[in-house]
Amino acid sequence: MCGIVGYIGKKQALPILLNGLKRLEYRGYDSAGVAVLNEGLFQTTRSVGKIDNLVAKMQDEKIGGASGINGTMGIAHTRWATHGGVTEENAHPHKDCTGNLMIVHNGIIENYRELKEDLGKKHEFKSQTDTEVLAHLIESLYKGDLRLAVEAALAKVRGTYGLVAMHASEPTKIVAARLGSPLVVGVGDKEYYVASDTSPMLAHTQQVIFLDDGEIAEISEHGVQIYNLADERLNKPSEKIDWDETTAERQGHDHFMLKEILDQPTVIKDALRGRLVESDGTARLGGLNMTEEEMHKIKRVILIACGTASYAALVGKYAFERLAGLPTTVEIASEFRYSDPVIDNHTLVFGISQSGETADTLAALREAKRKGAFVRGIVNVVGSTIARETDGGTYIHAGPELAVASTKAFMNMIGVLLMYALQFGRVNRLAVATGQRLVKAMLQISGKMKQTLELSDQIKILAKKYSGYKNYFFLGRGVNYPVALEGSLKLKECSYIHSEAYPGGEMKHGPIALLSPDFPVMAIMTKNQLYDKMRSNVEEIKARQAPLIIIATEGDDKAKELSEDVIYVPATMELLEPLINTIPLQLFAYHTAVMLGRDVDRPRNLAKSVTVE
Ligand code: G6P
Repeated sequence: MCGIVGYIGKKQALPILLNGLKRLEYRGYDSAGVAVLNEGLFQTTRSVGKIDNLVAKMQDEKIGGASGINGTMGIAHTRWATHGGVTEENAHPHKDCTGNLMIVHNGIIENYRELKEDLGKKHEFKSQTDTEVLAHLIESLYKGDLRLAVEAALAKVRGTYGLVAMHASEPTKIVAARLGSPLVVGVGDKEYYVASDTSPMLAHTQQVIFLDDGEIAEISEHGVQIYNLADERLNKPSEKIDWDETTAERQGHDHFMLKEILDQPTVIKDALRGRLVESDGTARLGGLNMTEEEMHKIKRVILIACGTASYAALVGKYAFERLAGLPTTVEIASEFRYSDPVIDNHTLVFGISQSGETADTLAALREAKRKGAFVRGIVNVVGSTIARETDGGTYIHAGPELAVASTKAFMNMIGVLLMYALQFGRVNRLAVATGQRLVKAMLQISGKMKQTLELSDQIKILAKKYSGYKNYFFLGRGVNYPVALEGSLKLKECSYIHSEAYPGGEMKHGPIALLSPDFPVMAIMTKNQLYDKMRSNVEEIKARQAPLIIIATEGDDKAKELSEDVIYVPATMELLEPLINTIPLQLFAYHTAVMLGRDVDRPRNLAKSVTVE
């Protein structure tokens, strides 16, 4: 979703801004723009499509090329359209009537129509965006101090924003404000960055200040000063983050998605490291922040998430119920936030999110907190809003995930959920021997994931064989039902092929009507307590002549009787099967998408970090 980069310092701003935008490409966008202050005048370029189009347009216009921009202050933006179509006029930065004020914005100004009416005919609007209204509103309140004008404007605004503004009359100042859409300030040596997340600044500095909602940063040669909306100065020192630029590189792979799939055996170890206690058959996640007494009082668990994270949560549900005997529900955040959930102080709520910024998940967690639940986060991005707003929780340590389609974060979310379930299980009812068996299996899982990745070439051949089909079903039972959901989502989002997932037993209640020789089914049929049930479902599919790809456990020769296309994966404990069985499905989606020439890392219409509802 929209990405923001700003720079002020001693260096040429333009290359820093463009490289920064590249780093934010993963968030998903449909147009881009940049403005640099050049000898008292803003030089702006905007274009529809990729950042490369923006650069090409600058070359055509001789901006930053032959004519050269000597500006050391600027802002840039990638837009994911909300208000108004994907056009150059709607792309950011937006300016006021005088052209002296430039802003970029992420979020939604809900009352922009009223504000526009109030501004009246004196202002000329060139776009359909809510952001441009904000630019004119700031203009109408500007009396020589940009921060004060921004503060006054924001007092009139209803909605969400991550906002960065510059004014030509104040050539050494950038103002950034946040409510609901993330912004981070990077602190270098007499130079400063501001961006939607840390990735554009990692090449320059690891010292950052995460803005909180309701905070405004004035960034100038005097440093960074933070204010609240009541114009009180806050003391907010910078902190050091430990991600660096190399962890966010493709490292020779064709796509981030492939790199991130291949990273999984390594990063799962990072999630488990130091958190498993073999002797006691348990896990210790300090971030839970609860005494054993408080843990005993928990009577139910709610797992809140969106997209892939919600499928990881479904695996968590099996684990919490089986290991800890705690009734557990999975709630889609956008539904939960507007429902009437029954919550009390015996309820433990986990918000699960790779980005830690998903607007619906964040709002749902705030709602749960208001109603008295214990609220904890399971998050990847360090310092993200959910991580900071929850009263504890755990980082999944997957490292930067830049492909829009989530892979390694899914695995590490499952890893962390399994550990929480185990920790509660051992406090509630689980025998030490069972806990120890699970811990042992978890310690072996990285090796088995690595082994499963070796199937990549076989899966590539299968992807080629199947790439002409237009529809798919993914089927699984028990813990493999969320795996089917995730495999289906990966195929859909990366290759644009229609695909649906069902629990194996549900097939005969409707979907089976669609089966034909043109409708392949990916069936997860590994050896677990539901093996016989799943096998019967697969027989039903075979009887309808639908092509079948079966994920089976190594040694299950009988699977070959059902289809010639069997992918054999290593055996593990049932609760850990998703960590293995998801891998062939990720690879299938990846190879199919590559074969069809899709933009694998940045599928159309999708955004990595969904900061609007
Ligand atoms: C978007 C992404 C998905 C992701 C979902 C939740 O839709 O495209 O890949 O699963 O948001 O994101 P989160 O950052 O909260 O895990």
